[in-house]
Amino acid sequence: MHIQHNVDLAPFTTFGIHAVAESFVEVSTIEELRKAIAWAQAANTPFKVLGSGSNILVTDDVAGLIIRIRIMGRTSTVEASSATIHCGAGENWHSIVQWSVENGWGGLENLALIPGTVGAAPMQNIGAYGTEQSSCFVELQALDVTTGIVATVTKDECAFGYRESIFKRDLRHQMVITSVTYRLATAPVVNVSYRDVAEELHSCAVIEPQVADVFDAVVAIRQRKLPDPRVIGNAGSFFKNPVVDLDTYAQLVAAHPTMPSYAQADGTYKLAAAWLIDQCGWKGYRSGDAGVHDRQALVLVNHGNAVGSQLLELSMRIQHQVQDQFGVDLEREINVW
Ligand code: EPU
Repeated sequence: MHIQHNVDLAPFTTFGIHAVAESFVEVSTIEELRKAIAWAQAANTPFKVLGSGSNILVTDDVAGLIIRIRIMGRTSTVEASSATIHCGAGENWHSIVQWSVENGWGGLENLALIPGTVGAAPMQNIGAYGTEQSSCFVELQALDVTTGIVATVTKDECAFGYRESIFKRDLRHQMVITSVTYRLATAPVVNVSYRDVAEELHSCAVIEPQVADVFDAVVAIRQRKLPDPRVIGNAGSFFKNPVVDLDTYAQLVAAHPTMPSYAQADGTYKLAAAWLIDQCGWKGYRSGDAGVHDRQALVLVNHGNAVGSQLLELSMRIQHQVQDQFGVDLEREINVW
């Protein structure tokens, strides 16, 4: 375990924003993780946990210790109708999805190409194209920072919701995820309910889509619509899609009949934040190096040398205008450091 000091965080987040971490360490085992936490506790300095930095906006230099999780490893147990995979928190998410698809195991294919690590996936219950990671999730292991003990956390205990889990709330500073277990189907039924996916398969003349076809379709859609963080700094959707009650929905749809919306099981309606932001005219906006992507208004981008505070300020201007124009609050999806 090698603790470094005054480390530029730009290579460690997908926004690629320069900011200095007072101390920084990469851990590849649970024992190293324990030692890193103990180091911070002994130095009486705060610590923060980082995966591949794909859901974080750093707005200032960071005091204390950044612990970058590099705990790797993947195993599988195949039974008659399912394959159970167990993956280290530091594994790259997309590479796990690809490995599952190559083996013919279904369940994660709609989540192809989502930037990030396996350990970060349950934190915000990543989702795309009609699927969330919770649909295949079995359990995870996490280190309790107070006791140093690794405990199993069950699916129920994770309290998954739309981009939500207990790790964003009650257990935020208490547990560090070290590995995750998913159960996949060996005779999968694919989910092509999302319009973009169905259209992509149709345009490729795929009649009976298999897991690999859905994977290819999702990769193609994402490559077309979303900016590649290796080319242009971004952290995916900056805001969550807002959920409103029936009355609010009825008023909005009466005023804006083309507004996209998704009825929820509890009688509420999810609105498309991208559409609301787009209607306010932000798509493709740029001020210095901080901007809004020109193909997806929900994605804020760093064109090169933006600083975090510029992007945060831009996001607040967007929130205010959406509130003024539609009376809807946009909640940030990403974490701000
Ligand atoms: N739209 C616009 N303008 C735009 C972009 C989209 O009007 O600039 C409209 C679209 O026409 C569509 C609606 O907004 O009617 C929704 O757009 P899209 O299907 O692209 O999905 P999204 O709701 O913007 C969500 C997730 C994405 C995920 C996609 C696909 C959230 C916050 N975002 O985006 O997740 O990939 O659906 O499932 O739920 C992420 O979380 O970082 C992320 C990229």
